[in-house]
Amino acid sequence: MMRTIEPKMLYFGTPVVLISSLNDDGTTNAAPMSSAWWVGRTAMLGMSVNSQTVHNLTERPLCVLNLVDLPMVDAIDRLALLTGRRDVPGYKKARSYRYEPDKFAAAGLTPVQLTPDGPLAVAESPVQMEAEVRAIHSIDSADAGLRAMEAAVLATHVDEKLLLPGHKHHFDPLAWDPLIMKFTEYFAGGTNARPSSLAAGWGMPALTH
Ligand SMILES: Cc1cc2nc3c(=O)[nH]c(=O)nc-3n(C[C@H](O)[C@H](O)[C@H](O)COP(=O)(O)O)c2cc1C
Repeated sequence: MMRTIEPKMLYFGTPVVLISSLNDDGTTNAAPMSSAWWVGRTAMLGMSVNSQTVHNLTERPLCVLNLVDLPMVDAIDRLALLTGRRDVPGYKKARSYRYEPDKFAAAGLTPVQLTPDGPLAVAESPVQMEAEVRAIHSIDSADAGLRAMEAAVLATHVDEKLLLPGHKHHFDPLAWDPLIMKFTEYFAGGTNARPSSLAAGWGMPALTH
């Protein structure tokens, strides 16, 4: 039987992206997000206006979109309740978020410089896209504080293990298994990858099996 419900969220399953952006002091912030999709050479990235990432990209549009696979899941979870924003918003404080200026150290990830003026990429990420935010759209209700950032992908760097054998410019869909966030839980290969601090922080009901 079909039911009409009022879901808390509509996170049906999208790839986890670790976005690198430049802080005011020139250091790099890295934030996990998953409201992301691509068409042509454009990425659409949905984030809260209260994040340091949206602040940074409003001021300095260069970013790196570091895609995430299963071996990175523990590092991602270490970032789940952190923000690069010094004045942690009240609603995040109430959910035990804290300010962290060095997300790479906190996550145990390795920074790598791709371009002289862009933010640092994440060496462990098997796909690193240099991108530039070209427009920021206010979306959802007026008080939702949500932004859809439209970013042009300028260059794509990929671990050659993810390329189709014998092809220089084609991903192998059988080799690429993105970490997926589904209703605040982590999935890879279709199975639940590990407990999610995001789900715990936001008081989501426990999984039953
Ligand atoms: C796996 C994962 C996916 C997330 N997806 C999003 C998202 O799509 N949009 C968003 O605004 N926040 C998302 N978050 C929450 C942000 O990571 C969080 O707000 C973080 O504090 C932002 O960091 P910043 O303030 O340093 O930019 C996600 C968190 C995790 C762990």
